[in-house]
Amino acid sequence: MNFKIVTIPGDGIGPEIVREAQKVLERVAKVYGHKFCFERVLMGGCSIDAYGEPLTDETIEICKSADAVLMGSIGGKVGQSSWYELPPEKRPEAGLLKLRKSLGLFCNLRPAHLYPELKKACPLRESIADQGFDVMMVRELTGGLYFGTRKTEVVDGVEVATDTLVYHDYEIRRIAEKAFEIASKRQCHVTSVDKANVLDSSRLWRKIVIEVGKAHPDIALDHALVDSTAMQLVRNPGQFDVVVTENMFGDILSDEMAEIAGSLGMLPSASLREDSFGLYEPSGGSAPDIAGLNVANPLATILSAAMLLRYSFNLSKEADAVEAAVAETLTAGLRTADIMEDGVSGLTRLSTSEMGDQVAARIR
Ligand code: IPM
Ligand code: MN
Repeated sequence: MNFKIVTIPGDGIGPEIVREAQKVLERVAKVYGHKFCFERVLMGGCSIDAYGEPLTDETIEICKSADAVLMGSIGGKVGQSSWYELPPEKRPEAGLLKLRKSLGLFCNLRPAHLYPELKKACPLRESIADQGFDVMMVRELTGGLYFGTRKTEVVDGVEVATDTLVYHDYEIRRIAEKAFEIASKRQCHVTSVDKANVLDSSRLWRKIVIEVGKAHPDIALDHALVDSTAMQLVRNPGQFDVVVTENMFGDILSDEMAEIAGSLGMLPSASLREDSFGLYEPSGGSAPDIAGLNVANPLATILSAAMLLRYSFNLSKEADAVEAAVAETLTAGLRTADIMEDGVSGLTRLSTSEMGDQVAARIR
């Protein structure tokens, strides 16, 4: 099969980790007889430097022409990088939000799974880590606080900043549908997370999710408040299967999930719309501290490439092969710095590019 993949390496460690994911995809194409053609574009800080804005219309058009987009990470250090002296709508993050909105990517999947080999990297008590977990976070991505109107003004001599949290019924319905669909292929259990004891938007959220749930009697549905969920995730993450929640809650809970899964460097993500098109990126940030040092963990990006094969290209055998290759490298004791355990025998520390080589070599 022939597919076009647009890559957005971005800033910081982005170019290094995308290079390794591309290496693995090229290996998949070779082993399985596909043709993937790659086109690289700029977004984020590098686009500000080149064109004066984080995301150009031309870049959006190129992304639209692709079958899927593979992204690294964007942004720099707030307070150090000159990108953050620009007005908010000109900063790197604004490019990412505009891209999600322009491409209609309302459904963000962030799977957090504890590899048995990484149990030691899990900060939870051993008795909890031993039980393992496999949670799929379904985060609404184009609504809520991120896209409501905002302003900062002076009212009667007082500075006032306002952000608005808006949800339309159809936005909740379509993400809930996705969550139930995904749960039907997993453990058939959806936990909808909200703050319905305080927020109107959450009360609407809960009402619509209950409605959608009625059409899926085979899926167990429960509701939890976001503060309690934050606690339950560290207490007993194994109780969750699919967690569906609004944009900001999902942003916060998914970082928490990445941490308990061992490292942000392990957590992939897919941002989808109704059709097969999607954007795939690691959940972690651009890590400017370690950029260019060839030490970043490329596995989250490689696992994002596996999601790309599965969700956008419908190549599940190939996706399984990438995930199996990642698991095998971990079993072989190969580790980047973030998941390295000192004093444990049988582990070898690898650079970013060596890790990419090792995964690519295990694609069969
Ligand atoms: C993420 C990131 C982004 C978000 C930032 C960079 C705008 O934290 O993908 O989780 O908040 O969505
Ligand atoms: Mn985030």
